[in-house]
Amino acid sequence: MDKCPYVLDRTGSDLHGENRNLRARGPVTRVELLGGYTAWSVTGYDEAKQLLVDSRIAKNTKDNWPEFLQGRVSQDWELYSWLVMDNMQTRDGAEHDRLRKLVAQAFTGRRVAATRPIIEGIVRRLLDDLEKVPAGEVVDIKGQYFYPLSTILVCDLLGIREEDQVTMLQGARVNAKTTNTAEEAEANLHQTHQALGQLVETKRREPGDDLTTVILRATEDDEAPLTDEEVLGSVHLLIGGGTETTANVLCHTVVDLLTHPDQLTAVLAGNASWEAAWEEEVRKDGAVGSMPFRCAIDDIEIAGVTIAKGDLVLINYAGAGRDPARYGDTADEFDITRADKGSLSFGYGRHRCLGPALANMEAMVALPALFERFPHLRLAVPAAELKPAATYIFNGYEEVPMVLQG
Ligand code: HEM
Repeated sequence: MDKCPYVLDRTGSDLHGENRNLRARGPVTRVELLGGYTAWSVTGYDEAKQLLVDSRIAKNTKDNWPEFLQGRVSQDWELYSWLVMDNMQTRDGAEHDRLRKLVAQAFTGRRVAATRPIIEGIVRRLLDDLEKVPAGEVVDIKGQYFYPLSTILVCDLLGIREEDQVTMLQGARVNAKTTNTAEEAEANLHQTHQALGQLVETKRREPGDDLTTVILRATEDDEAPLTDEEVLGSVHLLIGGGTETTANVLCHTVVDLLTHPDQLTAVLAGNASWEAAWEEEVRKDGAVGSMPFRCAIDDIEIAGVTIAKGDLVLINYAGAGRDPARYGDTADEFDITRADKGSLSFGYGRHRCLGPALANMEAMVALPALFERFPHLRLAVPAAELKPAATYIFNGYEEVPMVLQG
């Protein structure tokens, strides 16, 4: 009855092609990860939505996955850090709510609105630097604009000093890949942990007007204070969750607008909105590929298969965003006039992303500003030759070479 698990391409070389193959096997199908572990990949929109609120699915995998509990997962496994990190992403129920409540304070409408001038300032500085690039020279718009924007912003929110940002962000980028060697994965876990530990120590000594300090203060005031590991884990999550994600969708938006000139013209002429372009891109190429991890804590019958108690589950957000059963035959196409662009790309249920308002604000400032400053912006290579990032966890380009002027 059961097919052999589909071996996931850890290099993420063609996520959407792979998702078509997975979908052909069913909306919920078994996959094999490096190390021979198996999981269920959920590419169906309806199935993903259902499982995201199913109380028989836990996010806390390390306390529920038999392979881990029985000591059969080695520390140098490439996804080990995703299992052991201690933050709201790896907690359930009241334990999750406790961590989320604290961090959510930074993402209220008022707080996010207050970041607009900060975003505008970062965008202006980055564009000023890009303007100095000689005409005709190729720049990587991800590495020199979108990634710095989202990282400087998150570091600013967390109060990470400029000189410490490089280590922190290097760690987040390595963690996002699924092609690290065992040594790289382990060394990165260690280095990131050390850097985060230093940040927390510094903030204890010199509190600031930032989110790390808010989290630390709450640990002192709260009846159930956060442990050091929880503080570190929460900061780690915000760095990882708020940087690669937004930068990925911003890059996809620019590439799709440039390769659909009629839609770009409509946006620039004010006949279609930047919001529509962004929302469509979030659906079509949401930032997340397959999110590690969830674990079944009871048997679940769904879409003709049984996810057994103890099985791992990967919600394949990139697949759900293009499910033809939900979006029809045009699911793969970029169409800003699409009537229903609603998606699961920011998650759903208890673990829904905390950052949509912030990411939207970044997009609404950064995209128009880029096209205004560089009206003749163009891709330096055909879109089909853009190299995907080496991961199936995130859905993005490694780099996006462009010519800005001339
Ligand atoms: C376009 C940009 C973004 C996308 C597409 C995105 C997507 C997601 C998704 C799919 C999840 C749910 C993961 C799961 O299955 O458990 C998530 C969770 C989360 N995201 Fe985002 N994200 C984006 C930007 C951001 C930003 C800017 C921040 C903050 C600076 C952020 C912070 C978080 C946090 C804290 C969670 C964990 C929520 C929880 O477990 O309760 N994200 N995000």
